[in-house]
Amino acid sequence: LFTSVIIPAAGQGRRMNATMNKPYLTINGKPILAYTLDVFEKCPLIDEIIVVINKDEFEICRQEVLKPYHYTKIKLVEGGTTRQKSVYNGLLAVNPQTDIVMTHDGARPMIEESVIVKSIHDTMKYKATVVGVPAKNTIKVINAESFVEYTPNRDYLVEIQTPQTFEYTLLKEAHERAIELGIEGTDDAFLVEHLNCPVKIVIGHYTNIKITTPEDLIIAEAIFKRFQKDD
Ligand code: CTP
Ligand code: MG
Repeated sequence: LFTSVIIPAAGQGRRMNATMNKPYLTINGKPILAYTLDVFEKCPLIDEIIVVINKDEFEICRQEVLKPYHYTKIKLVEGGTTRQKSVYNGLLAVNPQTDIVMTHDGARPMIEESVIVKSIHDTMKYKATVVGVPAKNTIKVINAESFVEYTPNRDYLVEIQTPQTFEYTLLKEAHERAIELGIEGTDDAFLVEHLNCPVKIVIGHYTNIKITTPEDLIIAEAIFKRFQKDD
């Protein structure tokens, strides 16, 4: 079984409001992207890591992430203008033997190996899985005038994270269909759902946050300290 992971890291990090793009911001001196890559590099079930980055960030990625932290499974690919396009570029670059493909945000450095392993195992059974956690807050669906339309039962609400894991042929077909139909999704499962394919949830951890706004860096530092994951 050949498993590839695509790590989109080719965004702009606008909500972060920093001078540098998110993947290269450091926590305890180490870039966020390096923490993310470490987990996949160490996981024996992962055969290949496709890191999707901006055209003008190859040099910073090589110098600040790849050089100091010794990876053996990595291939760099240029990103696109949306996350979906970046993932698609990654899909075109995976090893032709790939059976299972996983996507994982470069900006989620707190992913744990056990969740990766569970995702791969469950995908062998269900073809498509996404990691998520039960919603802690009440979520309301509103209209354009900011009035509440309805309140879904929280027992059936899950906040979706990454990894998202699929049979390679399924995810490729889902992306190609989305291009044909002009569908743009914020995650990969959305595209697979459009093929009417069931997607199974893998329950993950609340600590697997996406570094999105400045306070997320403070939370990440605290979590790394608490679990001694600072190298
Ligand atoms: N991403 C990507 N290519 C894009 C947009 C996003 O590879 N064109 C990546 C980001 O680098 C990030 C992940 O997708 O690792 C999740 O996206 P998000 O958190 O939205 O990051 P950004 O798009 O960089 O941030 P923002 O939306 O605040 O600008
Ligand atoms: Mg974005």
